Amino acid sequence: MYRTHNCGELRIDNIGENIILAGWVQRTRDMGGMTFLDLRDRYGVTQVSFNQEVNANLCMAARKLGREYVVQVEGKVIERESKNQNIDTGAIEIQASKLTVLNASETPPFTIEDETDGGEELRMKYRYLDLRRKPLRNNLELRHRLGFETRRYLDQHRFLEIETPYLIKSTPEGARDFVVPSRMHNGEFYALPQSPQTFKQLLMVSGYDRYFQIVRCFRDEDLRADRQPEFTQIDCEMAFVDQDDVLNTFEGLVRHLFKEVKGIELPEYKIMTYEEAMRLYGSDKPDLRFGMPFVELNEETQNKGFGVFDAADLVVGICAKGAADYTRKQLDKLTDFVRKPQIGAKGLVYCKVNEDGTFKSSVDKFFDQEALASWADKMDAQPGDLILILAGVKEATRKQMNELRLEMGNQLGLRNPNDFAPLWVVDFPLLEWDEESKRFHAMHHPFTSPKKEHLGLLDTDPEKVNANAYDMVINGVELGGGSIRIHDQKIQSKMFDLLGFTKDEAEKQFGFLMGAFKYGAPPHGGIAFGFDRLAAIFGGTDSIRDYIAFPKNNAGRDLMIDSPSTIAPDQLNELGIDVIDSNE
Ligand code: AMO
Repeated sequence: MYRTHNCGELRIDNIGENIILAGWVQRTRDMGGMTFLDLRDRYGVTQVSFNQEVNANLCMAARKLGREYVVQVEGKVIERESKNQNIDTGAIEIQASKLTVLNASETPPFTIEDETDGGEELRMKYRYLDLRRKPLRNNLELRHRLGFETRRYLDQHRFLEIETPYLIKSTPEGARDFVVPSRMHNGEFYALPQSPQTFKQLLMVSGYDRYFQIVRCFRDEDLRADRQPEFTQIDCEMAFVDQDDVLNTFEGLVRHLFKEVKGIELPEYKIMTYEEAMRLYGSDKPDLRFGMPFVELNEETQNKGFGVFDAADLVVGICAKGAADYTRKQLDKLTDFVRKPQIGAKGLVYCKVNEDGTFKSSVDKFFDQEALASWADKMDAQPGDLILILAGVKEATRKQMNELRLEMGNQLGLRNPNDFAPLWVVDFPLLEWDEESKRFHAMHHPFTSPKKEHLGLLDTDPEKVNANAYDMVINGVELGGGSIRIHDQKIQSKMFDLLGFTKDEAEKQFGFLMGAFKYGAPPHGGIAFGFDRLAAIFGGTDSIRDYIAFPKNNAGRDLMIDSPSTIAPDQLNELGIDVIDSNE
């Protein structure tokens, strides 16, 4: 028997028991007559003591142990003289009677403790060592629980988990595909799915009216903290449902997860249209842990002689409660912030509402106290508040103000990771105009249905058509998105038309789906959640990488296995891919 217990479970009640533990040497401490060893496994750390006077040889052997050696210890559980409140096993220690080295270890390239000295790159290269650290272990345990509870809830609601293929052809989800060359059909390629979208719709045609899958998706897009080239979705589809049915079912799922995994009762979901979200927060995924909505000030600010405002399409302000004590330096920093190239505003106007009710603005030359009072009135600003204003072209200014609002939320401590503000954003536009290709793109994907009452606009004003599409947003993170689908072959065909597909192209790419729709497609709709993002929200951090066992870095590389990599000329040959020799 390698072990009777694990390193996280022994307590006061076990005192006097003879036990065997196995694990990794976190560290040893030599204290003269005594040597202490912190023994670690997946479950925790237990202190083992070796007494020079009782067994000098054993003590000598313990002193020779290097970090991360794999050892087995036999001994007796005794009460610890100085207890360690910080660990679960802190009340006891093991008085060792036998020590076996199961395997030696080279000195690890960084310390394997909660706080490590290893840099990001190094830890990615030695990910298997980093995964020994408790913070990462906790993250993977959290992910496991979320997956488990997801399956439990969906199973209880009669969803079937059905696998769909990974070697498929292109799904039009908007990103680039990863492609896999075919050996048996030289010159032809599979694509890895960006999502199982078309397959889950086909399953509805097949009559599996509640489907789900915790499934890997692949998208060749630029990476960010919340994006990985391969990521996991909780992908779901239902037949014979309308939008409310889908929203209720999946609000239920997320509520269940918060309750079971975090012990939290989620507050009520807000519902906001896309138009409102953009107008009030400049984002289709507003962080509603705090207010600070946009207030449009065109009327109050234009035609008063200040050129910047007069020339602007939109003058918009936010009111930062209690921030009138911002210093000149802080305000300059905010101005630098909005001027950063990634944000791109030309400048920032501020107006402090002083405690005595007077105003101090950066544009006092153009606006007297009465004018400033009208801004404060419109913005519901009270003495002690700070008004921040941006002006310019509508869409760009809203985006800039969104960044400024989030920054102010950070600075004023309004974005506590332990608060949760859930929201449904609904009524997205069906299409968006792409200047580059001079044609419409589907805002969600081409299978999303237009609102019934907007069907007539498809021919006349397609850009005004709204979709039966929805996103779930928590704390400013787009956690999931979905739609009620088109199930009428004629409307689907019209949609492809609008998106600029010729009949031939549509037939080649989606003939299988339109064909299936001829055989009795039920009304259906669904949603997919970003599972990695869900874990990150539960864990209270921004980076999804910490919740993936073996992630890619920001350049899309796996530093541990060193991929992507070149392949042998023979392999390329077999795949019918020409080898270009740069030396020739
Ligand atoms: P969508 O493209 O909105 O919808 O994706 C659903 C959710 O998946 C997550 N997500 C990602 N997570 C990590 N890295 C990425 N690169 C990444 N891309 C997306 C997001 C997002 O909300 N087939 C549709 C769903 C449907 O209509 O049912 C789809 O894939 O959290």
